[in-house]
Amino acid sequence: MIKVLFICLGNICRSPLAAAIFTQKLHERNYTHQVSCDSCGTSDYHIGELPDERTIACAKRHSIQLHHRGRQLNRSDFKDFDLFIAMDQSNVDNINMAGEIFKMTPKCLFLIRHFQKNADSQDVPDPYYGGEEGFEKVYEILNESIDGLISMMEKDFDIENGRLL
Ligand code: 4NP
Repeated sequence: MIKVLFICLGNICRSPLAAAIFTQKLHERNYTHQVSCDSCGTSDYHIGELPDERTIACAKRHSIQLHHRGRQLNRSDFKDFDLFIAMDQSNVDNINMAGEIFKMTPKCLFLIRHFQKNADSQDVPDPYYGGEEGFEKVYEILNESIDGLISMMEKDFDIENGRLL
């Protein structure tokens, strides 16, 4: 099983939506036995909370199933997950700081927009302090980026057998 962890700051907006979109695409492509995912935040701000109500509304608009409670990145995530997918550069910095504390390094770490064609920024903008339209923009970015991520996995990994190679 290839295990993918989507990571943002609060784990109530971007990364739970990313994991939900990714899960839907895994179902559509029949990869549910080969690939699994989860999401977390680098902060402890929203542990145990449901996603932000604007994230829930956005998922609903796009018929995406969203079942998650906020959790914080922990030491065993570095062992358990093959791929860390961060939403922005500050997440990467926070992941690396956590790694120093835990004396762990991620097996593989990417910014999600690395996989988006014609991305106009390397970061998924943080929609938390904005309005509804920010969540729609995040959805579009994540949807395109995740198509690119799955294409990379099909090309570079042994996805049919659920192995990195
Ligand atoms: P997320 O958004 O990292 O996409 O979940 C945020 C959620 C909460 C906060 C910041 C960003 N906050 O400061 O509480």
